Amino acid sequence: MVTSKVIIALDFSERQQVLDLVSRLDPQECRLKVGKELFTSYGPQIVRDLQALGFEIFLDLKFHDIPNTVYKAIRAAADLGVWMVNVHASGGRTMLTQARQAINDSQNKPLLIAVTILTSLSASEVAEIGYGQDVANQVKHLARLSYECGLDGVVCSAQEANIIKSVTVPEFLTVTPGIRLADATKDDQTRVMTPEAAVANGADYLVIGRPITQADNPLAVLQEINFSLR
Ligand code: C5P
Repeated sequence: MVTSKVIIALDFSERQQVLDLVSRLDPQECRLKVGKELFTSYGPQIVRDLQALGFEIFLDLKFHDIPNTVYKAIRAAADLGVWMVNVHASGGRTMLTQARQAINDSQNKPLLIAVTILTSLSASEVAEIGYGQDVANQVKHLARLSYECGLDGVVCSAQEANIIKSVTVPEFLTVTPGIRLADATKDDQTRVMTPEAAVANGADYLVIGRPITQADNPLAVLQEINFSLR
């Protein structure tokens, strides 16, 4: 059982880059996030290869489709034995409920997480799509819907983690990207938090990419983060 809160984002285009990085990590100290780029290039085999090295996988494919298709996609993800999988909350109640049902019907039961509003969207883009509320209220609304449909949690910024829990329950999981170590570069992230501040603000899991993947010694940085959260 991995006790670390850290999920390392594998934002690489080449399989060899992934294998080089993970050879320098420890599956007892982190989990790994496989997203659309890696999965589209290398398929489920990359997930199996990482699992064979002992890593638990967050399959970040953000499913959003008709309920029957999402049901089947989640069944496939569960059969792949991933630890966490996600969908877009804006797929609606039936889609979310079918996603939950897919896991209930599967032998392996990954955590089921929703994306509320993509943080890349500006307030004007959110209005342009046609959501009737401002971003903060829309995020809360979709978090509550996800909770009602039996999901295990949401992806959100660490700034929102406590608010999400206050409109659902404390056990509703928050998975938070936008983490930076104190004094480090922010890259293209705007609103960032340190691991300790994020956890203090209600983050259950931290999605961390470049601060670990681009470090000279990724395992040392990971261990430092894990230590700071004990
Ligand atoms: O390198 P960095 O730590 O910024 O990577 C963060 C990871 O989290 C990336 O895979 C990014 O796509 C993802 N993410 C994010 N912000 C969101 C949702 C996902 O940074 N709102």
